Amino acid sequence: MTEPTLLVLGCSAQQLPVIDAAHQRGLRVVGIDPDPEAAGATVVDSFVVADLGDHEACLATAMRARPAGVLTFAADYPVPMVARIAEQLNLVGPSQATARAMTDKLAMRSRLAAAGLATPRFAPVTGPDDVAVFGRPAVIKPTQASGSRGVAAVDGRDPSSLIDAARAESADGKALIEEYVPGPEVSIEAVTIGGRTTILAMTDKLTSGPPDFVELGHTQPSRLTERSGELAALTTKTLCALGLRSGPSHTEIRLGPRGPVVIEAAARFGGGCIASHLLPIAAHIQAADVAVTMALGGTGQVEPSIGGGAAVRFLTPRGGVVRSIAGLDEVRGWSGVVEAVVEVAVGDRVGPMRSARDRVGYVVASGPTAAEAGLLADRAAASITIETSPRS
Ligand SMILES: Nc1ncnc2c1ncn2[C@@H]1O[C@H](COP(=O)(O)OP(=O)(O)OP(=O)(O)O)[C@@H](O)[C@H]1O
Ligand SMILES: [Mg+2]
Repeated sequence: MTEPTLLVLGCSAQQLPVIDAAHQRGLRVVGIDPDPEAAGATVVDSFVVADLGDHEACLATAMRARPAGVLTFAADYPVPMVARIAEQLNLVGPSQATARAMTDKLAMRSRLAAAGLATPRFAPVTGPDDVAVFGRPAVIKPTQASGSRGVAAVDGRDPSSLIDAARAESADGKALIEEYVPGPEVSIEAVTIGGRTTILAMTDKLTSGPPDFVELGHTQPSRLTERSGELAALTTKTLCALGLRSGPSHTEIRLGPRGPVVIEAAARFGGGCIASHLLPIAAHIQAADVAVTMALGGTGQVEPSIGGGAAVRFLTPRGGVVRSIAGLDEVRGWSGVVEAVVEVAVGDRVGPMRSARDRVGYVVASGPTAAEAGLLADRAAASITIETSPRS
């Protein structure tokens, strides 16, 4: 008898933990990714190059593979196809309606507003008049994208160019404008089983803030313990309003002046090392294994237990051509540094820091507390020097 197959949609580096978890269970892994050189391409047992919006190609692969489960671990863009394949092959996954509500920010905002949940005021945006009517402070963003690509505060810049940039990043070519909510931001990892949500961990998010909101780091557990009850309640109601009945999720909430406000919720675990590194260290949860279990129809019921603190800090050098990289080996030897990665080499071009795409590596650190892990990750990231010179 051949071993059961898991179909993994999206084979970028952040999907590797789930491929590994599947292999450890003796599953055969079939992966699909549009990039022939995706990090997981040579790790999966069978790799297919296809766009994850190409239904025909993905379904044909799925029919051939006859998988026992289909999933994405931390990548957002495969979610709609996971739902589609899951429905067609009668596998576990979000419904297509839920996948849409959790990947299309206009649909998401409409659902949350209809459910009476705290969500920023919003409107579709097509031109500068819409921006003037909406007022400030505001944020323009693509309706369908992730990694902060195309997300920008409305400031002195020409609104038309912000709209164009957002639309260019959106899978459907559309953009929306939202009221800007100031305040600290947390993300919440959860699993929903039969409509019941269990919170696994809360993470403090560090971003570059306006105008581009690039995620610079995450720290777990969140220091906002006194707010955890209301954050958990809003998360649960959000997932219910979006129709998520089962599976992992990642919800982002800002603590605004009038209370917690949902920024977004995704039908997968958090990327940026949250699920792959921080959850195992700070909550003793092997998130990749949980994701595989749930995709195969298991409950994924887990009890988070208190570990230590864990933090990731991303490397964000100035834009330009990389001239030198120093400090990486030294930092890797530090006690408490779990992983340090530089993803560029001398001669590579680094963009100005506009989205997650422009980050060039990361450091994960652990410590007795979240604060100590955060400080160590800060120090380690600062000790990796990536010198760039202006573009020629
Ligand atoms: N209405 C808002 N008010 C305040 N900050 C916002 C708002 N919308 C977005 N942001 C900031 O921009 C970041 C990225 O926005 P959003 O999560 O909507 O885009 P995304 O592309 O899905 O990002 P990611 O995939 O990195 O989570 C948020 O995490 C938040 O820091
Ligand atoms: Mg987000």
